[in-house]
Amino acid sequence: MASAGSRMFFALWPDAPLRAALAALARDVAREARGRATAADKLHLTLAFLGDQPAQKVEVLRSLAGGIGGPCFALTLDEVGCFKRTGIAWLGAGTPQPALLALQGRLAGALRQAGFSLDERPYAPHLTLARHARTPVHSALGQAVSWNVTSFVLAASDPAGERPAYRIVDEWSLDPA
Ligand code: 2AM
Repeated sequence: MASAGSRMFFALWPDAPLRAALAALARDVAREARGRATAADKLHLTLAFLGDQPAQKVEVLRSLAGGIGGPCFALTLDEVGCFKRTGIAWLGAGTPQPALLALQGRLAGALRQAGFSLDERPYAPHLTLARHARTPVHSALGQAVSWNVTSFVLAASDPAGERPAYRIVDEWSLDPA
């Protein structure tokens, strides 16, 4: 019998100091947006959302991710905004981030080639700071968040729980610049 799968996604995952800074920002933005701040251990920036995947696909994803490679890069996140329809308040970039888009493009290309279906909409990089926002927020941060990206992860969540924890399935290092 096939073992149970989970909802999976590739993402950038902040280290502890960055996570603490993002959690403080999430609390501030949640207050302003009158929403619920993302818990510190759930803060991440999604590269590719895969939806529910059977457990047998994990090895395929591992092998595919191992071939992505590419250099470490600095990511600048300096804009707070919201998706009004979904009530999500996010942290994003006011200017294009070519190294992020290159990594995401390589990953999405390899996933599509391997038969995974991804969102057809253009990639909109964002880090969800708060959900259930009731007041629209939009501002340029006085001090940008500077993220030294050295790896990416495959993460899983069990959608059965009300507030499921994320689990890091595996992590791949990028090449030192
Ligand atoms: P979100 O924060 O904007 O909801 C895990 O759910 C991650 O995958 C989140 O970062 C989520 O973005 C993202 N994601 C992208 N498409 C999704 C979808 N159709 N359903 C759930 N999460 C999705």
